[in-house]
Amino acid sequence: MTEPSWEHVDAYFESHLLLPDPVLDACLRASAEAHLPSIQVSPSQGKLLHLLARAIGACRILEVGTLGGYSTIWLARALPEGGRLISLELDPKHAEVARTNIARAGLDARVEIRVGRAIDSLPKLAAQGAGPFDLVFVDADKPSTRAYFEWARRLSRPGALIVVDNVVRKGELANAASTDANVRGMREFVESLASAKGVSATGIQTVGTKGYDGFLLAWVEEGVGQAGASQPAPTKRPAGRRAR
Ligand SMILES: C[S@@+](CC[C@H](N)C(=O)[O-])C[C@H]1O[C@@H](n2cnc3c(N)ncnc32)[C@H](O)[C@@H]1O
Repeated sequence: MTEPSWEHVDAYFESHLLLPDPVLDACLRASAEAHLPSIQVSPSQGKLLHLLARAIGACRILEVGTLGGYSTIWLARALPEGGRLISLELDPKHAEVARTNIARAGLDARVEIRVGRAIDSLPKLAAQGAGPFDLVFVDADKPSTRAYFEWARRLSRPGALIVVDNVVRKGELANAASTDANVRGMREFVESLASAKGVSATGIQTVGTKGYDGFLLAWVEEGVGQAGASQPAPTKRPAGRRAR
């Protein structure tokens, strides 16, 4: 082997920690055959989403940005009997490929894909009383991330987890002079969290088959919108301990 690389380490983890998965392989194959861009999360990242959803016992999941349904399948597999996942996608062709992939995975009874601009779909979800969600995965057009996060909070229960992908952008996140709309969108989003109340967040840089990027993970301490929860809110931390 030549110099070990991020890709080699991803392959090593995949070969030891991820089981062979013909359904996910078929999802990627069908997405490639339909000429969808290969911008889904990596297998290890998909499993991370799956483990996070299982760890918090998520019963209701919201995803913003479906593509061919790869991350959708990872997340929906974490749902218990009766759990639901709603995924928002702009492109009808992506949604059609995803629906086929999700049906092949046997998850169509749990997953609903809504086609349209997420910024239009999110207020409709709120008006319909959808949620509250236990986990939200934000992975769509990057300049709108702040708006998606604000809707995600509104639609989440206290104790929910919000995961945002592609925050680091090859390190350009730290470049205040960047003129890239995606970088500026992510900087605006991250900086909005500095003064946000009721939410505790951290950023994690990642390397691997998807290059150099990262996630932002936010824990919702207080809901800002809908009342109710699909499971009890976690007990309060002892007085005097702030999570931020
Ligand atoms: C990075 S891909 C999602 C990848 C997917 N989460 C996965 O890991 O398998 C982003 C998706 O967001 C969709 N998208 C872009 N702009 C959008 C918008 N305004 N509203 C909803 N979806 C949008 C794109 O069409 C694309 O399918």
